[in-house]
Amino acid sequence: MLGRAPGVRTILPAGDLGWGKPDMRARAQPRGLYGEGVPNDLVIVANRLPVDRVELDDGEPGWRRSPGGLVTAIEPVMRANQGVWIGWPGGTEKGLEPFEDDGMSLVPMSMSDEEISGHYEGFSNGTLWPLYHDLVAKPEFHREWWDAYVGVNKRFAERAAELASEGATVWVHDYQMQLVPQMLRELRPDLRVGFYLHIPFPPAELFQQLPWRRQILEGLLGADLVGFQLPGAAQNFVRLVRQRVGHKTHRDLVYLPDGRTVRAKAFPISIDAAGFEALAQTPEVADRAAEIRAALGSPRKVFLGIDRLDYTKGIVARLRAFSELIRDGHLDVEDAVFVQVAVPSREQVEQYRILRDDIDRLVGRINGDLGRIGRPAISYLHSSYPREEMAALYRMADIMVVTPYRDGMNLVAKEYVACRFEDDGALVLSEFAGAAEELRQAWLVNPYDINGMKAALLEAFRAEDRDLTKRMKAMRKTIRQHDVAAWADSFMTDLGDIRSSHGKPVRPARRS
Ligand code: F6P
Repeated sequence: MLGRAPGVRTILPAGDLGWGKPDMRARAQPRGLYGEGVPNDLVIVANRLPVDRVELDDGEPGWRRSPGGLVTAIEPVMRANQGVWIGWPGGTEKGLEPFEDDGMSLVPMSMSDEEISGHYEGFSNGTLWPLYHDLVAKPEFHREWWDAYVGVNKRFAERAAELASEGATVWVHDYQMQLVPQMLRELRPDLRVGFYLHIPFPPAELFQQLPWRRQILEGLLGADLVGFQLPGAAQNFVRLVRQRVGHKTHRDLVYLPDGRTVRAKAFPISIDAAGFEALAQTPEVADRAAEIRAALGSPRKVFLGIDRLDYTKGIVARLRAFSELIRDGHLDVEDAVFVQVAVPSREQVEQYRILRDDIDRLVGRINGDLGRIGRPAISYLHSSYPREEMAALYRMADIMVVTPYRDGMNLVAKEYVACRFEDDGALVLSEFAGAAEELRQAWLVNPYDINGMKAALLEAFRAEDRDLTKRMKAMRKTIRQHDVAAWADSFMTDLGDIRSSHGKPVRPARRS
């Protein structure tokens, strides 16, 4: 029987989880004093809070759900465990107090302009993001960015140390916070610390370009359990720890000279599958799905892409592949339309601005060349949508196209599958998305191979119902069995199972 992290309940069945709201008036309730009388047995540390501080349309301050897979996955865990979540609410507003929002206890951490440009836009998204995503863009290495990263990690670690009750579990998330585990352990050795990386962890050949590679590895080794999306990432990490830090390792274990054991293991993240399915089945979503199809001119088939607007997602190549199918005469705009939703993201980072312009131009050119009156080839939306609208889009789309060059998991692919409760619809999925390891019945494609992608899009378009049903049934079974509740439960169970001391004599770490 495996142990459980102290003070952490098994999370509720996914169906019991509530939905976040897209726009929230400033209705959050102050939470009172943390660390004084309020036991915080579970503390989540992530760069972002699940809600962003925004100015609403009427000019009043309010909260809006933050984008990205991390929030989608952690929110239900938080609700079920009554933890406290430390994170940045976006922007530079200072002095925001801890508050309760929609049943969650949130502790906002402010960031200065310098911290946003050095820590968030700089080291996190200009250095680590491209480095960890196969160098899809060129990472930049700047010492000031690194200094800002260290400073922000330190502040987050100190806040977590203040808030966590004796012996509590702290779960640190993602690449923006990789130094927090070690910093936290130094401040509070009594805590049980887990770390989960939501994005890929690169092979040693790429990671070792990083001037601060040793510090990052040591930062992560402050955790008792380091979780990754895929087994290959965990292996990359253990290999790097052996090579670069010099610790003794055995399979997924690292033995530290201070007697601690750190485990590195894959926990493929997932979604609230039952919740998405239930939402897709509501009459409101059904009506909205029909309305969207009608607004598109009731084409025979609808292709759909939904991504954060990011250069790792392969949006340009996918739109080009689709447009070539029309140009070559394999598809006709009367028969097929491509709906592409691009969720605004990291708009201050230059590479993201360039990408937005590239996509704007490409969509304009494709529609100008291939569209007819009332029949654009691509219906392009630069916006984020609440879950209800996402479910309607998933429900109305015949072919979901998810073609990143590299992606930790890709929860959009899983959400689409969860919403296809009639076992229909096709998924075209990049083999470089983590989700491809589970969703084997998708049309798997290499996003660098435009002809291969064209062939897969066409096959999915022409597939017979029987084939679609067989594939979707199998994928739905996988998603139902491995939902976000199972993911969090297995991480917490393994975190609770870590032995306090390995009792092995190990030599001190070698510097490299
Ligand atoms: O899942 C990867 C991730 O970077 C998360 O850490 C993050 O919350 C999400 O994507 C959205 O990115 P950002 O916080 O930069 O808007």
